[in-house]
Amino acid sequence: MTAIYRTYRPKLFKDLLGHEHIVTILQNAIREDRLSHAYLFHGSRGTGKTTTARLLAKLANCHKIIEDVKNKNKGEPCDQCLACQSINNGQALDVIEIDAASNRGIDEIRDLQEKARLSPSSLKYKIFIIDEVHMLTSAAFNALLKTLEEPPKHVIFILATTEIEKVPITITSRTQKLTFKKLTKDIIMQKLKTIALKENIDIDNESLEIISQLAEGSLRDAESIFDQVTTNNGQKITIKDIEKTLGISVNNNITILLQKLFENNLDEVLNIINTIVDNGYDIIHFNKNLIDYLSKVIALKSNPKAINIFKLNLTENELKKLEELANLSDLNRSIELIKSLIEAHRNMRYSPFSYIPLQVTLIEYLNKKANFI
Ligand SMILES: Nc1ncnc2c1ncn2[C@@H]1O[C@H](COP(=O)(O)OP(=O)(O)OP(=O)(O)O)[C@@H](O)[C@H]1O
Ligand SMILES: [Mg+2]
Ligand SMILES: [Zn+2]
Repeated sequence: MTAIYRTYRPKLFKDLLGHEHIVTILQNAIREDRLSHAYLFHGSRGTGKTTTARLLAKLANCHKIIEDVKNKNKGEPCDQCLACQSINNGQALDVIEIDAASNRGIDEIRDLQEKARLSPSSLKYKIFIIDEVHMLTSAAFNALLKTLEEPPKHVIFILATTEIEKVPITITSRTQKLTFKKLTKDIIMQKLKTIALKENIDIDNESLEIISQLAEGSLRDAESIFDQVTTNNGQKITIKDIEKTLGISVNNNITILLQKLFENNLDEVLNIINTIVDNGYDIIHFNKNLIDYLSKVIALKSNPKAINIFKLNLTENELKKLEELANLSDLNRSIELIKSLIEAHRNMRYSPFSYIPLQVTLIEYLNKKANFI
């Protein structure tokens, strides 16, 4: 079976989600015959840089676009002609992808310069996609710089990186920079929904939201989590399946734990920790999520307007729950608690009984409350 992220890699600009401004820039450039000779695609991982590089390769070379101004104005490759097809299946000799992580040196760049000098063999433009460009050695960057200063007419360079600050400014200043931002939870969900429908997978909204959240803005991560969960659990997916497959416990446990904490219910707090440990969940991961969640409670408690930020990433139910917990909480004690949890997080990583630092922290918190009264 082909990995989902390959099967569902967008073949047209209309399927590329969340980067409308980038699509507009590239489409206008083709319409107005002013494609740049060097682009730098930078930003968060798994957000579509390589995908867009291949789309741009098709946009520049699609026969239908070259032949017919109507197609050019549409700004979409036809995806049918020989050029589009050969790029889709990775067989176009004139589209050269280089992984700079494993080809870092000057020799590789010299080789590239040689190739760049020759005319394309069948397409209009020769396209060089240099992935992870920040990995090049400084000698290699210097050589690349020479080519970028006077790029051959028939060549388009597309440099891609997640770490633009490691690319020399001499290079970046000679490129058109396009920023790929993290994708929002809603956008990720939208794509997962489409995939679920096509793959005949019955998955509830809550589960889709959880996967989208875990992906932290990366569609590739979302698709591979989805892949993993569906491979292991068949056609019907619930939150339980996600928890089992990934060995995590989702927010449910965290909100219950916080509620019991704020209600001073030591019995229940200890129970929850036991259940998490017994179920084989990763307790360090749980603590990390707890810290993350508590920070939201604190933010909301100290500034109710923070709700607007959380709206971007939380479900309706989650927002309601978060507000409830903020109401229940005490600001100063929560701040103390989060500091201790961070300290516990450090200790947990080195402890053979990783749940103990967490448990002790929670007991301490409740104990102090008893002293206050
Ligand atoms: N904006 C997007 N719209 C739709 N699908 C996307 C988008 N971004 C990523 N994907 C999906 O994720 C997969 C990986 O995307 P891609 O390889 O383009 O990411 P990338 O930005 O190059 O990541 P990296 O920085 O790790 O190289 C694609 O095959 C596609 O299925
Ligand atoms: Mg990539
Ligand atoms: Zn075409």
